[in-house]
Amino acid sequence: MKKTRAKTRRAPAGLKIRSFRMADYEAVAELWGIGKMEIDPPEQVRQRMKRDRDLLLVAELKGKPIGSVIGGWDGRRASVWRLVVHPDFQRRGVAQALLREVEKRLRAKGALSVFLLTWHKNDVALRLYHSCGYHLCEGIVFMYKDCPKRRKGSNTTRRRKSRPEE
Ligand SMILES: CC(C)(COP(=O)(O)OP(=O)(O)OC[C@H]1O[C@@H](n2cnc3c(N)ncnc32)[C@H](O)[C@@H]1OP(=O)(O)O)[C@@H](O)C(=O)NCCC(=O)NCCS
Repeated sequence: MKKTRAKTRRAPAGLKIRSFRMADYEAVAELWGIGKMEIDPPEQVRQRMKRDRDLLLVAELKGKPIGSVIGGWDGRRASVWRLVVHPDFQRRGVAQALLREVEKRLRAKGALSVFLLTWHKNDVALRLYHSCGYHLCEGIVFMYKDCPKRRKGSNTTRRRKSRPEE
C-alpha cells in the first residue's frame, strides 16, 4: 500500500469535535451499526464514560453526530477504536479530524504512541490510517481468548458470535 500522506483536508464548515454525551447515544449507536461494529448497550457506554469520559468523541455538524471514535488509555498504552463517519459525510476529512483530536487527548495523558486494529480487508480504513501516519507492525500476531459470561441458572456459556472488535 502506498504510504503517501493525504493532505490535511479542510473538514466541513461548522464541524465540531467534542466529547460524547449520553444524549448522543442513539445517533452514535446508529453510526456503529452503519460501520458494522458492535453496538454497546447504554449501560456499557456509561461505564466507559466513568473511566475515560474525554476519550469517546463525536464529530458534530449542525447539532447532529456524524462521526465518532473511541480512544483507550491504560496508563501505558494508547489505542483507537470504532472510528466511523456517516456515509453522507465521508471523504471530507472528518475521520482525520476525529483522529487528530483523540490523538491529542491521548498525548495529553502521556501516550507516546497509539495502536489500533483493523480488518485486513478494510482497504478504506487502511488507506486512512496510512494517510494519518500509522504503520503496520510486521511480525505481530493478534491473539485473543473469549471470557464468556455464565448465563444465570445455566451450565452453558454465551460465546462471542462476531469477530473481535475493530
Ligand atoms: C474509514 C472511515 C472512518 C473514513 O472516514 P472519512 O471521513 O471518509 O475519511 P477522511 O475523509 O478523513 O479520509 C482521509 C484519507 O483517508 C483515505 N480514504 C478515506 N476514505 C477513502 C476511500 N473511500 N477510498 C480511498 N481512500 C480513502 C484517503 O487517503 C483520504 O484522504 P483524501 O480524501 O485526501 O484522499 C469511513 O469510511 C467509515 O466510517 N467506514 C466504515 C467504518 C470503518 O471501517 N471504520 C474503520 C474501522 S477500524
